[in-house]
Amino acid sequence: MTDKSFEKTVKELQNKIDESEEAEFSSKVIQEYRNPTHFGLLKNPTTQGMIKGPCGDTMKIMLHIENQSITDASFWTDGCGPTIACGSLLAKTIIGKSIDEAKKISPEQLLRLLGGLPKDHVHCSKLTVNTLHQAISQYKKMVKRL
Ligand code: FES
Repeated sequence: MTDKSFEKTVKELQNKIDESEEAEFSSKVIQEYRNPTHFGLLKNPTTQGMIKGPCGDTMKIMLHIENQSITDASFWTDGCGPTIACGSLLAKTIIGKSIDEAKKISPEQLLRLLGGLPKDHVHCSKLTVNTLHQAISQYKKMVKRL
């Protein structure tokens, strides 16, 4: 196979992948998982949550909290594209919110913000929001002990 025909084959394959993703996921989901923000680990987080979902994928959420407000957030996952989209959009959404406002975010709300997810990926938004709730609960427990 020549370099040119190899490049052509790769391009055709990529187009097929793009088309099947676009048929399955909303443009918001695709945008978030192709260019996620806040992916990675925060230095010295105030609190964090980590949950392994029933699908076997793990979500980790780290928060910086000052005066009951989320000043920074990050996520890490070894999960699917939709989970990356969930973590990215959730992190963006909660930065600047109070922990009580952030705690009110539901998996359904996150799904709406993402323009929905296919049935077999609805659990990805639950995993993400549950991990945020765990991080906030840990923080509240820690503050109570002080
Ligand atoms: Fe496991 Fe999305 S979190 S498939």
